[in-house]
Amino acid sequence: MMEYIGATGAPVKFDPVPNEDGIDFHFILSFAIDADPSGNAQNGKFSPYWAYTLTPESVAAIKKSHPNVKALASLSGWSLGDTVLRWYNPLDNQLWISNAFSSLKSMVEEYHLDGIDIDYENFPKHNSTFAYCIGELITLLKNQSVISIATIAPFHATTIPYIELFDNYGDVIDFVNHQFYTDKVRKPKGYLEAFKLRAGQFDKNKLLPSYEVNGRGIQGDAFFYALSLLEENGYTVNGVMIFSADASSSNDYYYERKSQDFLLNSTSVWKVVAQITY
Ligand SMILES: *[C@@H]1O[C@H](CO)[C@@H](O)[C@H](O)[C@H]1NC(C)=O
Ligand SMILES: *[C@@H]1O[C@H](CO)[C@@H](O)[C@H](O)[C@H]1NC(C)=O
Ligand SMILES: *[C@@H]1O[C@H](CO)[C@@H](O)[C@H](O)[C@H]1NC(C)=O
Repeated sequence: MMEYIGATGAPVKFDPVPNEDGIDFHFILSFAIDADPSGNAQNGKFSPYWAYTLTPESVAAIKKSHPNVKALASLSGWSLGDTVLRWYNPLDNQLWISNAFSSLKSMVEEYHLDGIDIDYENFPKHNSTFAYCIGELITLLKNQSVISIATIAPFHATTIPYIELFDNYGDVIDFVNHQFYTDKVRKPKGYLEAFKLRAGQFDKNKLLPSYEVNGRGIQGDAFFYALSLLEENGYTVNGVMIFSADASSSNDYYYERKSQDFLLNSTSVWKVVAQITY
């Protein structure tokens, strides 16, 4: 499981989010940003901007009580306050990589993190250094055993730079948290088509279906029918990404519970219903 948490600033906590022993449950702290509080870029020096309630102590505590839990910091996100965040080409790539490495190493140590997620959402029109800088950063963080997990979060308008990253550095990228809710599909069959498209662009075994709680794209139990349809069509559902815990408290984490049921139980009721319905 991949669960974004902390992006809205609401005082969210890890404890209420249900996680099952048999599942690697990744909390993705949202977000670590290469900017000062006014949104000015800091040449690779990342700072944590997730909800203040997600303290280093609370990360340590949830990991101690639930050894299946891992914690990641997601890099960038859409905006910080009123500033829309974007990838910018650093003046000196090596300096940016070195600053990012040092600042993230400190953050990983302070917050007991296991990895990073890449969620840059805006790019310069041409000639981006994104794939090189981020690919080298992940490679270095893994080589120095600072992190053990790296994931990426493309959406429909950012596939090109992420494909470039994945093509060149796919061996250090563990999962693709594609934001299917931006693909504007609301039915299981459409979801299957979107999954086929993204599976061709990335790696079908690293690609995770995703769901936006109270948000865009497929909503409600149709999501679970879609997961069944993926399996009927020969895909393995290796995990589920949910955005986000901040919204899920409003429905008692229904989608987290059902997703984990699905992952634990390959003969789930959803499969039966999907066969009847679709
Ligand atoms: C764009 O690409 C050219 C040729 O590869 C390179 O010389 C130049 O530095 C690049 N510019 C930026 C802003 O990355
Ligand atoms: C780190 O990189 C060096 C040089 O390429 C390599 O010999 C070493 O095995 C790598 N270590 C890890 C943990 O990947
Ligand atoms: C798996 O799903 C079936 C059908 O809903 C249910 O009867 C069974 O109890 C589930 N098994 C587990 C281990 O959850």
